[in-house]
Amino acid sequence: MERPDPAAVARLADTLRSASNVAVLTGAGVSAESGLATFRDKEEGLWSKYDPMELAHIDAFNRDPELVTRWYHWRFTRARECEPNAGHIALAGLQHWFRSRGGDLALITQNVDGLHQRGGAADVIEIHGTILTWRCLATGAHVELDEIGFDTFPPSSDAGGLLRPNVIWFGESLPPEALEAAEQASSACDVFVSIGTSGMVWPTAGFIEEAKSRGAATAEINLEPTPMTDQVDVSLLGPSAVVLPSVAEAVGAT
Ligand code: OAD
Repeated sequence: MERPDPAAVARLADTLRSASNVAVLTGAGVSAESGLATFRDKEEGLWSKYDPMELAHIDAFNRDPELVTRWYHWRFTRARECEPNAGHIALAGLQHWFRSRGGDLALITQNVDGLHQRGGAADVIEIHGTILTWRCLATGAHVELDEIGFDTFPPSSDAGGLLRPNVIWFGESLPPEALEAAEQASSACDVFVSIGTSGMVWPTAGFIEEAKSRGAATAEINLEPTPMTDQVDVSLLGPSAVVLPSVAEAVGAT
């Protein structure tokens, strides 16, 4: 695979080395090389094959909970079959490196697949929730997936309530704690790095501009240009599973 632009890698590494607090926002692109489809890829993206209004909207669940829970169960099964890639692992290494120096790397993800945590990252801010736990609509209790039979759809809890994945659907508010943590990280960082996200979903897409307007340095890692590319200080075009290990190595975090 082609190596990322060494000058841009060195620029981002210099910026990171001189920072104490970094905020990173990730999207589906970071899990692409683990084998999980992104949403908006024209050919393979989930939203090129499925209608988000039929599968990822609270009204869709209320209308057809069987269809929606089957689809999320399939997504969970796919995520479980995949392994964290070199990008997830490099990000976790960078987080460890900052923390060992008294700084921090706050990791905000729109992904619900749990791969950052499996790659070693801590305190991941899951702004769109997770498919790895489900929630009982009768009691509000969170249920681990291996405690759910999935013999019937929609599944039910032991308390007899309907179970739904702990994700945030269109039509729902972001979890206040995660939103607050993400806003806090964006407003406190010296550097904001956006990785593998198309920046199409708000308010998350606005975090990088918020950080920039406060004077933070900004960077983007993506396979292709996005609406933010011309506005960031460093743009690295390439797969995150290749670019992130190069950046971590250049920082000295490996
Ligand atoms: P998208 O599918 O919108 O964007 C994925 C981005 O990753 C694109 O900009 C790709 O160019 C880039 N990309 C693909 N492969 C990559 C790779 N190997 N390395 C680096 N970049 C790569 O996914 P998100 O931005 O995550 O929400 O989408 C945001 C939200 O929209 C999702 O959380 C989901 C979706 O609707 C809900 O379901 C509520």
